[in-house]
Amino acid sequence: MNSLQNLILIGFMGTGKSTVACQLSKQLNLPFFEMDEMIVQEQGMEISNIFKEKGENYFRDLETELLKNLLQKETGILSCGGGIILRDENIQAMKNHGTVILLTAKPETILKRVLHNQSRPVLNGKKNINDITKLMKEREERYHIAADIIISTDDKSLSQICEEIIAMITP
Ligand code: S3P
Repeated sequence: MNSLQNLILIGFMGTGKSTVACQLSKQLNLPFFEMDEMIVQEQGMEISNIFKEKGENYFRDLETELLKNLLQKETGILSCGGGIILRDENIQAMKNHGTVILLTAKPETILKRVLHNQSRPVLNGKKNINDITKLMKEREERYHIAADIIISTDDKSLSQICEEIIAMITP
């Protein structure tokens, strides 16, 4: 695995990881892996149903297993679920196998982006500024520990965000 070629996108829900990763994969001509989507395909179940029927811990185990497999076998642009930083072993695996890019956004921006989406069980009953701010604060330190590069996405276009990332990873 060439850690320079492996870009790992992390960040809170609604920071645009999948959209940015997909665009980067086109611009850099590298394969794109969307972890949540791969879990849904593998399990034949939506994330919200996995949480409901099997529990969050079961989902977190799937997430860790998939992350480790991908990092060992593939090279490309990896978009992780927002909770990937909750386990130390995930942070360690990401640090060992790639450049970790943290996307950030203000709670107001997040709220706008997630408001009408029902696929995020962690935000059930929490789609308001106070709860989003609280959860972001709880996770903030872990996001920063994991990150090599931090990119704010507020008020930026997709192409601006990708340009910024490419400028930062280009030697
Ligand atoms: C989660 C984020 C989701 C998904 C799951 C849990 C989290 O991914 O993995 O609902 O705990 O932050 P996105 O960040 O892509 O929404």
